Parts: sequence; structure tokens; C-alpha cells
Amino acid sequence: MKTQSHKIESLRGTAIVAGDKSISHRSLMFGAIARGTTHITDMLESEDTIATKEALIACGAHITKRDDGVWVVESQGLQALGEPAQVLDMGNSGTSTRLLAGLLSGLYAPIFMTGDASLRKRPMGRVIDPLSQMGVEFFSRSNKRLPMGFMGKNPLQPIEYSMKVASAQVKSAILLAGLSAKGKTSVIEHEITRDHTERMLAHFGCEPEIIVQGKQRTISVTHEMRLTARDIKVPADISSAAFPMVAGLITRDSYITMPNVGINTTRDGILESLLEMGANIQVNRENNLGEPTAQLVVKSSELRAVHIPAERAPKMIDEYPIMAVAAAFARGTSRFDGIGELRVKESDRLLAVVNGLTTAGVTTRYGDDWLEIDGMNGKVKGGGYVETHLDHRIAMSFLIMGMASQNPMAIDDNEPINSSFPNFLGMMKDLGADIQFL
Ligand code: S3P
Repeated sequence: MKTQSHKIESLRGTAIVAGDKSISHRSLMFGAIARGTTHITDMLESEDTIATKEALIACGAHITKRDDGVWVVESQGLQALGEPAQVLDMGNSGTSTRLLAGLLSGLYAPIFMTGDASLRKRPMGRVIDPLSQMGVEFFSRSNKRLPMGFMGKNPLQPIEYSMKVASAQVKSAILLAGLSAKGKTSVIEHEITRDHTERMLAHFGCEPEIIVQGKQRTISVTHEMRLTARDIKVPADISSAAFPMVAGLITRDSYITMPNVGINTTRDGILESLLEMGANIQVNRENNLGEPTAQLVVKSSELRAVHIPAERAPKMIDEYPIMAVAAAFARGTSRFDGIGELRVKESDRLLAVVNGLTTAGVTTRYGDDWLEIDGMNGKVKGGGYVETHLDHRIAMSFLIMGMASQNPMAIDDNEPINSSFPNFLGMMKDLGADIQFL
């Protein structure tokens, strides 16, 4: 549905942000292969994570939801799963597709996967290539896009894989397949990406070997690792919290509190960058096991331009669209380097951001992997209509822009928001946002 947001004076209150998407996917997947019963509290229930749940159930996993909202996953190990009777529909979710390709590679079973128009455009060669080296047989559409099918086996061939792109999805796919490979499977990362898979392996009783040499990290698993069921409490998603965070900063008289937000150091680039812009964000660390969390308190701020270096990109890869909105309101010209991966996300986010900003009267310059934004010192004209291209983060970013721009911002479709943050509109309205359906 077409949706528009209007300028407001202030946003105030406590925002309960949706559960972390990356951790929720992994909770379901690890629960489905760890022997015993795993309980998941505060799991994100969005279209993406439900796609993971449905795919696992189609392969025979036992996943139910209790009346108190806790998800229960019962498992007798990976080999208790088997051939699904239908094509697995991953919807909009790259994480479901790539991680499950790795996990299900350890089954001697034919698996077929497809997804929506956005996912069918995204590159799968990055998982097809290493998993093929491990002995999995793939066939796919041209350019290694979905739909694809594959036939796994057990045991798989262990590999040592040097990462070609900084991607936690690729790293995780190989490590998950590595649990079914006879011997030691290693992934060499040249840039550190989110480490939820490594943390979850440890949480389920199988600490991976991690060797750090300068900027390089080698993470190894073996087929001898036996995962045992554990309970999980999912923190709020910093990538989702980024939207109310920037909304609170760019509106005039705002004060927003967000409890229990995940601040894992492989994900906190957005905080680092906003603080460099002069953002008034208090980070009150909480005591938490497994994944570090904090209560974030955000107050309206006058932002200045920022230069985000390439090496920070993996730590905030999903936050560039909303960061671009913050930069549009800042004083001075911001520059983001090393952002080529944005071009293969749910949409070509570099172009989608440039088009949205241009519509709103903001000047940009860009290349293949960089973007410059001339900040408007608080006075963004707005007034445009933005195409979201089935991309939840583009949809949310420009609705946030409309809360502070002089004229309202409209998006063509709010439906994609359900892939990561189903209560986004309700939560923003509770804080005081003026959002209307057209
Ligand atoms: C994710 C990794 C990132 C991120 C995605 C979630 C994950 O993708 O953009 O939203 O859960 O591992 P890449 O690994 O492709 O960078």
C-alpha cells in the first residue's frame, strides 16, 4: 500500500524494537540440528524468519510456538531432517537461502529453492562455488541465480576457503556445511563480518577454532562437533533500532528510549558513525550472556557530516540507507566508501538511495562503491515519491525522512517492511509519527 509520512515536532517514548533478524534465523537453524529441545524467547516473527521456519518444517523439523510466545524446536540432529516435498520458498530472504543452502548440504536429499522477484535477482554463486567444492551438486538459473536445486551428501569434503567478499551469510553457509564435512573446514575472513554463527556454535556447546592474524580471521569447525540444544533470548535488532534512532536525532524535540538492543561489536558501526556526527545517544550497557546488549537513549541532535571508511562497511552494511537519511540532514558533505555490496542487497541500495535523496531535493554524487551526500543542515525539502523495489530498508528509511523533511515523503509500498520489522509503523505511530496510507 502507498504510504506517506509527515513532518512532526517530536517523537517521545520507549520503543520496543523487533528481535534481531540474523540471530532469529540462526536460532531456528541451530535449534533444528542440535539434539534436544531449544526454547527461543523474543524471536523475530517476520516474513524472512517465517520463511526459514517453514523451510525447516518442510524438511521435517519440529518447530512450534507456545502460548507465552516462546518458540520450541525439538531435534534429533541434522540427519533426522530429510527431503522436502515442495520447492522451498525463501520469499525476500537472502539469509534463509544462503544459510539453509549450507546447512541442508549435509543431507543426502534433493532440495529446490526459489524466492520473490528481488531474491531471484541476487547472486547465489557466492555460496554455490564453495559448497560445490565441498561436493554438493548444484544447478541454477543463468548467472547462478534462483531458482536453484542441489543435492547434498554426507559426509561432505572439508575445505579451506578464502572469502572473496565480506559476507557473514557466505561464512555461515560454509561453517554450517562444515559440520557435515569429514575433517576440518576453515573460512578465512579478510574483513570481520557479523559473528553470530560463531557465537551460536559456542552457545550450543561447540566452540569453533578462531585464529586471528592481524585483520585476518580463520574460523574452523569439524564434523565431530555435536550441538546440544540450548535456550536463546534474542536481543532487539540494532539494524531495526537504527530507524527510530535516526528519527529521534533528526526531529526537533525528541527523546526515545530503546531497551535491550544488540550492540555486538561486529554490528555497531551505525552507533560509531552517528556518534562521530555529534549524535546525542547514550549507550547504557546491560548485563547479558552470549550477545552484548544496551539500553539506548536518543535525543534530537544537530548532526555534522561524516566520512565512513571502507573498513567499517561490514559492521553496518544494512544501515547505509538510514545513514544516508541522517547525512541528508547533517551540516556538510558526507562520504561513504567501500559500499559496493549495497548493489546486491534486497535492491540496488546505492541507486535506490540516490534516487530517493534526489527526489527529496538532496544532491548526491556516487561511483560503483562510494557515495557523497551534500547535507542540508536540517532543511531537507522532501515532497517526493520513492520506489522501494521490494526493499524493506528503503521503505523505512524514506518514511523516517518524511518525519523531518519540510514536505511529506511517500513510498510506493509498505509491504516489504514485514520482512524484518512488522510492527515498524505501529511503533513509530506510538512514538508520535504521522503516517498515512494513500
Ligand atoms: C546477514 C548478513 C548480511 C546482512 C544480512 C544478514 C546475516 O548479508 O546484509 O541482512 O544474517 O548473516 P551479507 O552476508 O550478504 O553481507
